[in-house]
Amino acid sequence: MTVPIAIIGAGIAGLSAARALHKAGHTVHLFDKSRGSGGRMSSKRSEAGSLDLGAQYFTARDRRFVDEVQQWQALGWVAEWEPRLYNHKDGQLTPSPDEQTRWVGSPRMSAITRGMLGHLTINFACRITDLIRGEKHWHLLDADECSHGPFSHVIVATPAPQATALLAGAPKLASTAAGVKMDPTWAVALAFETPLETKMDGCFVQDSPLDWLARNSSKPGREHKPDTWVLHASSAWSKQNLDLPKEAVIEQLHGAFAELMHFPTPAPIFSLAHRWLYARPSTAHEWGALADADLGLYACGDWCLSGRVEGAWLSGQEAARRLIEHLQ
Ligand code: FAD
Ligand code: NAI
Repeated sequence: MTVPIAIIGAGIAGLSAARALHKAGHTVHLFDKSRGSGGRMSSKRSEAGSLDLGAQYFTARDRRFVDEVQQWQALGWVAEWEPRLYNHKDGQLTPSPDEQTRWVGSPRMSAITRGMLGHLTINFACRITDLIRGEKHWHLLDADECSHGPFSHVIVATPAPQATALLAGAPKLASTAAGVKMDPTWAVALAFETPLETKMDGCFVQDSPLDWLARNSSKPGREHKPDTWVLHASSAWSKQNLDLPKEAVIEQLHGAFAELMHFPTPAPIFSLAHRWLYARPSTAHEWGALADADLGLYACGDWCLSGRVEGAWLSGQEAARRLIEHLQ
C-alpha cells in the first residue's frame, strides 16, 4: 500500500503542491479547517451574490506561473479583469489606467482552487492541531482529537502563525515561521440597489483608512445586480481597529468610502465585514519553501515568497519539488 502525503491547508499554496505531487504519481491527502477550499482566495456566497473578500485579482510575472494561468484560462477557471482604475491621493481621485494584465477567478475567485482540487482527497472542516512522528510515518491529530494517518511526509501550507505550532517537530522550521509577522486586513462588502454613478471599477488609496476598493460586480462572470463593492482597510487601520465590532467597521469604512467618492453614497441594502487576521506577511522573503527532508516535513505559503497569489503558488511548487528531489 502506498502511504500518502498529507497537506495541511487547501489554499493556493497547498493545492499547488498537491497538484505537482499528484502529477508526479504521488497520492496526496489534504486537510482544511474551512468548509471549502481557497483560504484567502475564497469567495463568500451572500444574498448579494458571491463576493471576493480576500484576493481581488492577481498578476503573473514568473514564466512558470504565466504558463499555469494560461492553462487555467483554457479551462475556464480564470478570466481577465480590465478595471477602470483610479488612484486616490491627497484627497484627489484621478483615473490611473495602465497596461498590467490582471486575472480573476471566473465566475468567482474560488473557481480556481475548486478546479485545482478536482478529485483529490480532502477532509474539510478539519483543523489539524498536532503532527506526531512515529518511527517511519506521520500521524495528524485534529481539533476533535481524531487521528489521521499514516503519512510518509507532511506539507504545512497555512499562514506562518498557524504553521509555527504544527512545525514543532522541526524546531528550525518552527522558529523561522515564528519570526514571520503577518498583518491583518478588515474587508467590508456593500451592496447598493441602484448602481453608484461612477466609472470606477477599482481604486488604489493612499491617504485614508482604506487602501483598496473595487466594484465586485465589474469582474467577469459576477452578478451585475445589486451593485456590489468590496473595501479593504489599510494594514495600519486594521491593526488599530482589530477588535472593533463588525457594525462599527462597516460604518467607518462606508464613511471613508463616501468621503473618497465625494458624493453621499446611499444606504446599502446589504453589508458585511470580514476580518483577515493573517492577511499578508509584513515583508517578503526568498525561502521558496521550508524543508526538513530527513523528517519529511515541509512548509509553504505566500509568506515564503511574496505575499501574493503568485508567490503562494510558486511556494507550493517549490515544496513539491524539494520533496520529489529528496525521494530520487
Ligand atoms: P491561505 O490562502 O491562507 O491558505 C491556507 C489554508 O490553510 C486556509 O484555507 C486555511 O483554512 C487552512 N488552515 C490554516 N490552519 C489550518 C489548520 N490548523 N488545519 C487545517 N487547515 C488550516 N494577492 C494577490 O496576488 N492579489 C490581491 O489582490 C490580493 N489581495 C488580498 C486581499 C486580502 C484582504 C487578503 C487577505 C489577501 C490578498 N492577497 C492578494 C494575498 C493572497 O490572497 C495570498 O497571498 C494567497 O491567497 C495565500 O495563499 P496560501 O495558500 O499561502 O494561504
Ligand atoms: P499590481 O501590479 O496591480 O499592484 C501593485 C501595486 O502597485 C499596488 O498596490 C499599487 O500600489 C500600485 N499600482 C499598480 N497599478 C496601479 C495603478 N494603475 N495606479 C496606481 N497604483 C498602481 O498587482 P500585484 O503586484 O500583483 O499586487 C497585488 C495587490 O494585492 C497589491 O495591490 C497588494 O496591495 C494587494 N494585496 C493586498 C493584501 C491585503 O491584505 N489587503 C494582501 C496581499 C496583497
